[in-house]
Amino acid sequence: MHAVTWHGKRDVRVDDVPDPKIEQPTDAIIRVTTTNICGSDLHLYEVLGAFMNPGDVLGHEAMGIVEEVGREVTNLAPGDRVVIPFQISCGDCFMCDLKLYTQCETTQVREHGSGAALFGYSKLYGSVPGGQAQYLRVPQAQFTHIKVPDGPPDERFVYLSDVLPTAWQAVEYASIPDGGTVAVLGLGPIGDMASRIALHHGARVIGVDLVPERLARVRDRGAEVVDLSEHEKDLGDVIRDMTDGRGPDSVIDAVGMEAHGSPVPKLAQTLAGLLPDKIGQPLMGKAGVDRLTAFYSAIDVVRRGGTISLSGVYGGEADPLPMLTLFDKQIQLRMGQANVKRWVDDILPLLDDEDVLGVENFATHRIPLSEAPDAYETFQKKQDGAIKYVMTP
Ligand SMILES: NC(=O)c1ccc[n+]([C@@H]2O[C@H](COP(=O)([O-])OP(=O)(O)OC[C@H]3O[C@@H](n4cnc5c(N)ncnc54)[C@H](O)[C@@H]3O)[C@@H](O)[C@H]2O)c1
Ligand SMILES: [Zn+2]
Ligand SMILES: [Zn+2]
Repeated sequence: MHAVTWHGKRDVRVDDVPDPKIEQPTDAIIRVTTTNICGSDLHLYEVLGAFMNPGDVLGHEAMGIVEEVGREVTNLAPGDRVVIPFQISCGDCFMCDLKLYTQCETTQVREHGSGAALFGYSKLYGSVPGGQAQYLRVPQAQFTHIKVPDGPPDERFVYLSDVLPTAWQAVEYASIPDGGTVAVLGLGPIGDMASRIALHHGARVIGVDLVPERLARVRDRGAEVVDLSEHEKDLGDVIRDMTDGRGPDSVIDAVGMEAHGSPVPKLAQTLAGLLPDKIGQPLMGKAGVDRLTAFYSAIDVVRRGGTISLSGVYGGEADPLPMLTLFDKQIQLRMGQANVKRWVDDILPLLDDEDVLGVENFATHRIPLSEAPDAYETFQKKQDGAIKYVMTP
């Protein structure tokens, strides 16, 4: 089959790889009909390269049709239409009972101290072949699937794999009070969708980014926006001015570790990415080389006693944090990978023909899988108005 594979820093290719087979009785094989590129894939493209092996199949936002199931997967049958969550979880352990599916104890990658295994997401998350391919082996398939009805186009449902639950959890964890205000830092797919969901819940939304078309998309849906390229120095003051001098009740950080605006860690990340794995991995994992600008902004911007919800991915372990400010402002902090299936029942009713969240027009680019290498490059450079790529294998 054809699959998108990682070969090195900024080197993604489409290769012929063996078709996946059932390996465990809890596996299923799906024929992928739609698969997306995610902002998280860009971390692998560049700064997390030290944790990838050449030839690894990328991708964690796939949906398709069940081809084959292992003998213990009794609740799926060939022909079923399914979206596959980006995390692999058993549905039947201590953590899954708590609906903390990203912490599943059956699939945790203990060797690296990581939570649940993820599709296409490096050694840190189990080196599981990903979904940017014609076929996908789904481990723990008895739970790692979302059945969706036949009829509507794939783009109605495919974002259930990641964007929708991630944005939903970001908004939930932000604990926006009724009639309150949330600032959303970063208006890529996650921040954009989180803004839509918060607006749908009736919140006032202030979106921040520095890419004109991303600001425009969110403004068109009813958010106020602040262009970071004009307010890099005084972002906190500008947002406080918009919120009675206090700052918003909640801030969602939808940027993560590759934030614009902190040059020194950028150099460290680049070095870690170029070093041989033995040196690069500890540097990336332990030395703490995140670009924390967005998180620092969140701490500055949020009102006293307010909540910061981190959905952007961070990877370092030794980054300095302004504990004095965090403590003194009595900031509430919640974070983590989205527990996908935790939110599906809340989201599905919004994916009807009315399409209140605008999922069917969410993608900016629809391409065949064969064009993935160019798409990664364009997406990373934020050229050509690229916000979301949807691919057909
Ligand atoms: N928690 C989860 O489960 C989960 C799931 C998916 C993605 N993510 C993470 O969420 C983050 C966003 O994902 P995405 O797909 O929207 O990525 P993206 O890279 O498309 O979007 C990030 C946006 O942040 C903007 N930005 C950069 N620096 C900024 C700053 N200092 N202040 C404000 N905006 C800034 C960029 O211009 C860009 O538009 C990534 O870190 C991604 O890895 C987390
Ligand atoms: Zn994703
Ligand atoms: Zn589990």
